[in-house]
Amino acid sequence: MNMNKLPDWSNLSFGYVKTNSLVSCLYSNGKWGTLQSSSDDNITISALSAALHYGLQVFEGLKAYRGVDGVIRLFRPDENAKRLQRSAAYLGMTAPDTDLFMKAVDMAVRENLEFIPPYESGATLYIRPLLLGVGPQMGVKPSKDYLFLVAVSPVGNYNGGTGAIKVLIDRDHDRAAPLGTGCFKAGGNYAAAMMSGTMAKKKGYASVLYLDPKEKKWIDECGTSNFFAIKDNKYITPYSSSILPSITNKSIMEIATSFGMEVQQRAIDVTELESFDEVGSCGTAVVICPIYQIDDPTEKHSYHYPDAGGPGTVSKRLYDALYNIQFGLIPDSFGWTKAL
Ligand SMILES: Cc1ncc(COP(=O)(O)O)c(C=O)c1O
Repeated sequence: MNMNKLPDWSNLSFGYVKTNSLVSCLYSNGKWGTLQSSSDDNITISALSAALHYGLQVFEGLKAYRGVDGVIRLFRPDENAKRLQRSAAYLGMTAPDTDLFMKAVDMAVRENLEFIPPYESGATLYIRPLLLGVGPQMGVKPSKDYLFLVAVSPVGNYNGGTGAIKVLIDRDHDRAAPLGTGCFKAGGNYAAAMMSGTMAKKKGYASVLYLDPKEKKWIDECGTSNFFAIKDNKYITPYSSSILPSITNKSIMEIATSFGMEVQQRAIDVTELESFDEVGSCGTAVVICPIYQIDDPTEKHSYHYPDAGGPGTVSKRLYDALYNIQFGLIPDSFGWTKAL
């Protein structure tokens, strides 16, 4: 039932391509209804919904990969379910349990199989679970009703290529407060970072490297990805209360450990940037993206890293391991993938 045109697989950006359907489910009167499929990607909710007025909205992002063996795999979808539940709990929202989350994701992918890019393209099907507080209300309080939906779209490379990127330290804006919502996947965090991110892009940077909002001393995260550094074969990544716990980063840390590398998840002083061999960002969208330059205009300082035209030697080893698991090139000894 291919009603919408399939895209040119060789020329996919990280954009939206309309697919066959999205899947949704309504929570009302204290219980979840049945999963519904809709070919219309417009939804109808009350204009007085708390999602629209008070940002009562959380979401997720994961991918379906068409493997070299033709098998379609999801990568750690249970982790996304748990993170959605954690995000929802902080905002006082009711989230689907893991079983419902998985069923909705599975259904959305199955209904759009032909939109999962061919293995050779290196592209993937991005899956966007979204939870909204819906129903009419005026007061600032949790919603009674919730709409959970899962939309999908084939996507290519997030930064428009596989090469290294240049990022900007923006000391004039904060993304999230130290004891606030930064560690949850709430839309408000992305709204708060919009101006800073847009300004950085206008200046030719791929994204902003955020410092901790309190002291502006420690590295937080990199746009919509976590930050990591390699030094003497050690994998170093920030520990911070205001960053999203990345499922990709968590996986890379496990891969690095399995390689016998030392893994340090700790506060990283921005001045340490001088001493790293390789730096990059990681996340579902970017996988591992090398960084060749970090500019800190306030301090009038730039940090430079060798541009290998892709990830550096150690980052590449980690990238390959992750990629090979996701696309079925090697056995998944971690048990992370879920075949459709
Ligand atoms: C702010 C932020 N940090 C990090 C990540 C990477 O997380 P993950 O690896 O789970 O995609 C994302 C993407 O979800 C994000 O939006």
